[in-house]
Parts: sequence; C-alpha cells; structure tokens
Amino acid sequence: MPVSKVRRCAQLQLRVEQLKTLDFAALLSGKSAVIVRNVRLALAAHLDRAVEIDVAEMQVLTELDCETWSPCDALVAAHGAACIEGLLAKQLLLAENADSPAARRDRDLRASHWHGGAAIAHAHSRWSHNDSIAAQRESRLQSVDDMVEAFGPPPPHFHRREDAVARVALGEPARTSLDDLLERRATCRNFDLAQPISAAQLSALLKRVFGVHGMEELAPGAVALKKNHPSGGGLHPVEAYLVVQRVEGLVPGLYHYNVEAHALDLLRELSSGEAHAFAMTAVAGQEYFADAPVMLVMAARFARSMWKYRNHPKIYRAILLEMGHISQNLYLTATEMNLGAFITAAINEVEIEQAFGLEPMAEGPLCVCGFGARAKERVTVEFDPAHKVWSDA
Ligand SMILES: Cc1cc2nc3c(=O)[nH]c(=O)nc-3n(C[C@H](O)[C@H](O)[C@H](O)COP(=O)(O)O)c2cc1C
Repeated sequence: MPVSKVRRCAQLQLRVEQLKTLDFAALLSGKSAVIVRNVRLALAAHLDRAVEIDVAEMQVLTELDCETWSPCDALVAAHGAACIEGLLAKQLLLAENADSPAARRDRDLRASHWHGGAAIAHAHSRWSHNDSIAAQRESRLQSVDDMVEAFGPPPPHFHRREDAVARVALGEPARTSLDDLLERRATCRNFDLAQPISAAQLSALLKRVFGVHGMEELAPGAVALKKNHPSGGGLHPVEAYLVVQRVEGLVPGLYHYNVEAHALDLLRELSSGEAHAFAMTAVAGQEYFADAPVMLVMAARFARSMWKYRNHPKIYRAILLEMGHISQNLYLTATEMNLGAFITAAINEVEIEQAFGLEPMAEGPLCVCGFGARAKERVTVEFDPAHKVWSDA
C-alpha cells in the first residue's frame, strides 16, 4: 500500500550507548583488539526492542512532529528515500494507513496517559523467552561466594549514620501472635508436587488478598473499592490472573479472578503438562517456583490509575509499590494456612501477555506470586536462619 502521510511515534527516547567488540584480526596480529563504537538507539514504547538508527534517521526523528501527519513525498525529497523508508521499516515513523500491531499500540498510547519515561521503562524491561537460571549459570555468578569474589563484599548489612547527634534506645516490644505469623513467613522454593490446594483454600486466599470488602460510589461512575491493601488514589488497578496446576475441582488452565463475582473465569484449559510448561516459561525457568500448584500473575490496568494521575512521573512507581503490599498479604495469608508462598519479578512478560491476551501498555503483568503446600524435604535453598519453617535448617 503506498504511503502518503507519516508521523513520528508518540513515545520515543533516543539514547547513545558505547559498544565494545573484539577485533579478532587485530588480536592475532598483537594489536589492540577492542573496538569502541557509539551506537544511537531509538527506544519507543510501542516497540518491544531498541532499534539502532543512523545520524540521518536521528535528525529526522528529532525534527518531525509526532502529532501532525507530514506528506511522505516532501520528507523523501528533503531526507532521501532510504532514510524515510528505513524509519518506516523500523516503525519509528508510522504511515497514516498502517494497521500493524505496533501502529495500533502507538495509537492506543496516544489515547493513554502514560508518562514518557515510565512508558519506555515498562515497555523495555519486559522479557521474552528468558531463562534466568541458564543466564545465571552462564554468568558464573551463581553463589554469593562467586559474587563476593567478582564484586567484593556488598555494602554493609546495617546502616549507621555517623552524623547522628544522639541515640534513643528502644525497649523490646511485647510479642503478639502477629510476630509468630511474620516469623514463619519465608519464600518457598520447595512445593509438594503431590499436594493439591483445596477449593476452600484458594477461595479464602483470593478473597483476602484480592477480594473486595466494601465499595462506595464517590461520584457518578467513579466507584471506590475497599480491599485489604492500600492503593494509590484508591483506584485498585491490580488484577490477578491464575495459572492453575493442582487445585481440587478445577481443571488446569489459565483463569482470571473476577473480583465482582468472587469467582474464577476460565480463559483457557490446559493439560497438566502444558500448565507446567507455561509456568516454567512464566517464571523464566525457575523450576522451584513453577512447581507451585497455583501461580498468580499480577497485572496492572494502567488506565485505571492514569485516569487520575495523568502523565504522572510517579504513578508507575505507586503501582509497583501496591503489588508489594499485595504480595506481603499473600505471603501472610498463605503462612497462616501453613502453606508456602513466593514472589518473583524475573518473569517473561511477553509470553504471559500472549497467553492471557493482555495488551502490555494497557494491562501489564509485573510480577508473579505463587503458593502451595511445602514439600516434606527441602531440596532448594530457603532462608530460614531461626528454624521457623525447616527443623533441619
Ligand atoms: C520483588 C521481589 C522479587 C523476588 N524475586 C525472586 C526471584 O526471582 N527468585 C527467587 O528465588 N526469589 C525471589 N525473591 C525472594 C527473595 O529472594 C527473598 O525474599 C529473600 O531472599 C529473603 O528471603 P525470605 O523472603 O524468605 O525472607 C523476590 C523477592 C521480592 C520482594
């Protein structure tokens, strides 16, 4: 289809990176073999990858309006066909009649209220087909010993201000049952493959961690939900998607927790093998987490928060913080049920989005939690220095 008018994409960041490569011919002849090269990169929120551009392309991008459509002929006359066609192929310039997924995402971004920096950070921190365990193995930085050897010790574990003007001693607080619960919380990396979650356990956990416990219409059409965690602006943008492997009465598959109905909506049934394979992909090869009978993907409906916090530099941070609160509620709820729980941000967002049918800039998965009965034996390390979970620790 001929291109008559084009415009620059909406959310764009230009960056210069210094690349070092090895010149093997120079190496063999005993000369300096490191080639240092500056690379110009375009990072756009409607694209999943940074794109290398040249000086001419960079100039066009810095000069072009991102809102007005410009006649393609005039741009070709001014900058040359190769430059404009290159930018169109890289989807940094978008044609008026383009209907690719990237062009659609660019159009959706224009109607959204993402802050530019946050949009780029979100779009470009997503993983696809990443195996974090293999990557760790290849990096040869597997143990803490390896890291100390490579980096030296980390910054001190306790932080003391040398400029403090006085110290006020705090008495030992009285213990309550909350202390016992908190002390039994430990990230679980050993799930019992033979032990399913009961329907009652799943229902209780979802209600407590993601469920609604009150609501009020604050203005026409603006309903505030009361949940068990704080939420930036009270907007509760976080959705729970489930990867079910072993829950009594549920077929393995992908579900959405319907908060309104306190029910699970099945999105796709999977065989047990498919569910486990997807769980492995979702948590980037962390098998000890993929063994959990239930995994919960937390995804943010950004538009809900950005309705109030338009183009706000901090709302993305607030959403991440909110997920931390939810995760701790999930850990404690699971602990109270004598179950183990985990959270990970090492996830393959792209495959999760595809599986659940999520548009990344509209409803983005940001972390995965899971829970289930602990195995009898601890194979993978857990941090339990006070022996609150494992008597053999
Ligand atoms: C945001 C976040 C991401 C985490 N990601 C991982 C992960 O990818 N893999 C993992 O084994 N543990 C992960 N953890 C768990 C930490 O390793 C764990 O909390 C820490 O070692 C302290 O142990 P504890 O939770 O048992 O007290 C994560 C924790 C948080 C808060």
